[in-house]
Formats: sequence, C-alpha cells, structure tokens
Amino acid sequence: MDREDHQSERWAQLKACGQALSATSMRALFASDDDRFAKYSCGAAGLFADFSKNKIDDAALDALIALAQSAELEAARDKMFAGAPINATEGRAVLHVALRDFSSNRYMVNGADVAPQIEAARQKMRGFCARVHNGEFCGYTGKPLRTIVNIGIGGSDLGPLMAVEALRPNWIEGRRTLFVSNVDGHHLSDALEGLDPQTTLFVIASKTFTTQETLTNARSAREWFLANGGSAADIAHHFIALSTNGEAVAEFGIDTDNMFGFWEWVGGRFSLWSSIGMSIALQIGYDGFEAMLRGANEMDEHFRTAPLNQNMPALLALIGIWNRNIIGARAHAILPYDQHLHRFPAYLQQAEMESNGKSVRMDGTGVDCATSPVIFGEPGTNGQHAFYQLLHQGTDLISADFIAAAISANEWGEHQPLLLSNFLAQTEAMMIGKTTEEARADLAQSGLSSADLDALAAHKTFPGDRPTTSILMERLTPETFGALIALYEHKIFCQGVIWGVNSFDQWGVELGKTLAKAIAPKIAGIGETKPAGDGHDSSTIGLMNWINTRRLEAK
Ligand code: F6P
Repeated sequence: MDREDHQSERWAQLKACGQALSATSMRALFASDDDRFAKYSCGAAGLFADFSKNKIDDAALDALIALAQSAELEAARDKMFAGAPINATEGRAVLHVALRDFSSNRYMVNGADVAPQIEAARQKMRGFCARVHNGEFCGYTGKPLRTIVNIGIGGSDLGPLMAVEALRPNWIEGRRTLFVSNVDGHHLSDALEGLDPQTTLFVIASKTFTTQETLTNARSAREWFLANGGSAADIAHHFIALSTNGEAVAEFGIDTDNMFGFWEWVGGRFSLWSSIGMSIALQIGYDGFEAMLRGANEMDEHFRTAPLNQNMPALLALIGIWNRNIIGARAHAILPYDQHLHRFPAYLQQAEMESNGKSVRMDGTGVDCATSPVIFGEPGTNGQHAFYQLLHQGTDLISADFIAAAISANEWGEHQPLLLSNFLAQTEAMMIGKTTEEARADLAQSGLSSADLDALAAHKTFPGDRPTTSILMERLTPETFGALIALYEHKIFCQGVIWGVNSFDQWGVELGKTLAKAIAPKIAGIGETKPAGDGHDSSTIGLMNWINTRRLEAK
C-alpha cells in the first residue's frame, strides 16, 4: 500500500471513530471514565494542556496518532530541525527553532552551520540594547531614546506587538514602545502625536524591506523627524533597520551599522525570535528577550523528543484536525483569559491562517479535506459579553482554546479568582450544555403556564458538546510565554504536514499586492485623476471614479 492509500485508510478510520462517537455526549464520556482528565492532558515547558473537553476517546486518539504516523510527521519534524528546504515553493529551510537554541547543536543550511551567525546576531542585538539602555546610543541632542516606534506589518508587527503587550510586567520603567503597521495615515500620525523626536527611536522592521505599507510609513516618519528638528546627519541616531535586505536598507538612508540582519530561512510570521524581536528586547531588556527564547527552546526540545501521544504540540494539532475535519468545526476561537494576551488571537490569525489557509498540496494537487479554520478571538471575559452566545447556541460548531495563568502578575483583590472562575465555567458550560429537561426544571418555580414554560425552555437549552482545550501556566513569564508561542508554531507545522500543504509560503497575499500597485497611480492624490478607463472590471472602475470625484472636489 502506498503512502497515499495508507493515509486515506487512516482518514476512513478516523471518520468511523467520529461516527461511533456521534451517538454519545461528552457528559457521558466523563461519566463513564474517572481517568478522563488525567488521560487526556499533559504538561511541557511550564505549560499544562487539558484536551479532555474534546469529544475524543481512546480509539479516536489512536486513530489520530496513526494518521500522524502515516503522514510521516516525525520524519517531517526531523527534516525541519535538520535544515532541509521544506519550504519547497520558495526553496528555503525553516529554522526559526535555531534562533532559540543556546546549546552546541549545529544547524546546517546548504552545508554550512548557521549557529555561529545566529550567536553573532544575538550579541550585536544585546550590545545595542545595552547601549540604548545606558544612554550611550542616544538621540541627536544627547537625550536618552525612551520611545521606540516599531514600523512594520504582518510578522514584522504582530509578533513583537503581541509580545510587548504580553510582557508588560517586565517593561523597563520609563520606556514605551508604539507600533505602526497600517498604511492608513491615521496610524502613524496618531502614534507620533506628542512624541519628542529627540528621544524617539524608529525601528523599521521588514524582512524584505520592500513592503509598501512599511516603507511608506518609514518615509513619512523620516519626513516628520526632519520637519521637527532632526537633520539628515541625525537620522543615524534615530532610525535602525531589522531586515535581510542590506541594499534596500542602505538605499533608504539607514546606516547599515544600524541594521540588524536575519536570514531567508526565518519566515516572516516566525521572525519575532530574530532581530525582528528588537522592540521586545528594548522594552523588556535583552535578558528578558533571551528568557523568552529559552522558554521556546524548552518547547522545541519537548516537540523534538516526546512520543506523539504525549507531545503537546502534536496533540494540539491532532485535536484541531479532529474538530475541523471530523466534528466539522468551521472556526476556532483563541480565548486568552489574560488581558496582557489581548493581541495573541490577532497574532495567531496570521500564524495559522497565512500558514495553513491553503487549498493546494505540496505536490500541486488540490487538497481533499478542509484546512485551516477561521481563527478569531478576544480576551475573556470580554468575549463572553460579545460573541460567546454563538459559541454556546449558534448553528455552527466552533472549537476553542482557553488560555490562562493561575497566578497573575497583578493579584489585586478578587480579580484573578473571578477571571479564572469564568474561564472554568465557560469550558464546563460548552461541554455539558443544558438539556431541555434541565431548562424546564430551572423554570419549574417560575409560575409560567406549561405552554410558556415549554417555549422558554427551548431557548434556554444548550446543546453542549462544544469542544475546548484548556492551556494553563503557573504565571505568564517570558519563559512560559515563549513556550506558548512555540507550542502554536509546532501545532501549525504538524497540521500542515497532515493536510499536506506548505505552511511556510504565502502566495495568496501576492495578487492583492500586485493589483494595489496597478491601481495606486489611478487614485487622485498619487497620479492620474482622469476617469479610469481600462484594465479593470466595471465595479472597480465605478468605485475608483466615485472616490476620485470626491477627492478632486475636496481639493
Ligand atoms: O503580506 C504577507 C507578508 O509577506 C507576511 O508574510 C510578512 O510577515 C509581511 O508581509 C511583512 O513582510 P516584511 O517583513 O518583508 O515587510
């Protein structure tokens, strides 16, 4: 039997498990097995994951592991760690794991060990952070650079932004970091409001240094700097670049001594471990940044060595596949019960959807199953008062990850116990639901007529069986936070291998970029203002003319 037949047999086996379980409920599964929690949970790198509130049993889990084996997941993982060019459509290795390895392991790319370059880049970053913090690298009037403005987008924004927010308790006092990503001028001008150019450091973060949004924002930031007291010679004190493209950095006018490089084998959405993490290191200190890398490395080691049935990232991926492909979840909610993780869902939207939102397999053939679900989320408890209604009683099944720390960096009165009780209550409610009989019993004392009681009980019925995974840590520290991100990175990798897609390219974002370039010269304010004639559909031409008419009238 070839690999593909083997895999289809595994999928068929999984579907049969799903069919068998459809007749039962999670309530019943818990009632019939006292060990369920212990059996379907595991710990790694300071994190604890409980998968037991997913509708699985031993047969389903075995079938999931068998599916992973038939997809040769472990061999694929080893290939990634070995620096093989697994990003085949771009001919690149995928080695973000090397960025957080402090051991003597070697990482070979095209026959050369890249570990020494990584260490040199870390040292350059460490040295720079120290010089900014001790005031040696200062503004053009000698004042310390206390405000960082990170200009980047996608992976050059979402990761650092999410991390800076998450690690707020570790911030160095008196320093702040602002993030500008959107090409919408509001974003930059709002960020610049009230800033002192003498104490502001612009960090231009772009792997390619060709991204339209980032370069437009960077040029406008430079203009603002020059218009507010800085001179061309002062730019060297106030603009640094994080990039792989030295030529474009120099062309922009940033001294390449102030460029912090990385490599093509670091994907944009996996780049916060590289120099793209500069804003994190400047805000929390380089040691804190390194602690984050070490936490991620602990998860990498777990992922690399633990057997699949105890391997947290692999299990998270397999449960995701179960919910998406067998149970039929259309979307997956990321629900951190931690206000400091408020940008984590946005970060994972890129990490998961840009990686696995694909319809074509590695070999160019179409996929025959659903791939990445829609990822969305908000911190608890806010989401409870917004979209949880749909999670509990909507017509679509949505799976969810609940994430929390047992102890807050801000143990203030009853806040944390209340937050955690909401966390637990929601996962319990989604699992057990409420039968119509229970809803009727709740209403028994209400004095309603039997007909009214029946009608209301229907609205107060919850189907339950809504799958959730709970991820806990003792505290959110740079280490556990690093491990949490690595957990999801490896989950994404595992799912990509099983779905057969390339998780490391993103061709789907190119078409829009190309068309935007073609349209820009036709929008009043950049170029031509005459009615747009050709090359577009009638809707796009109509909209363009509508916009241009108003923009010209307003001049
Ligand atoms: O638009 C997609 C993308 O290529 C992302 O993958 C990337 O994170 C982002 O753009 C930004 O790219 P860069 O860091 O090269 O500016």
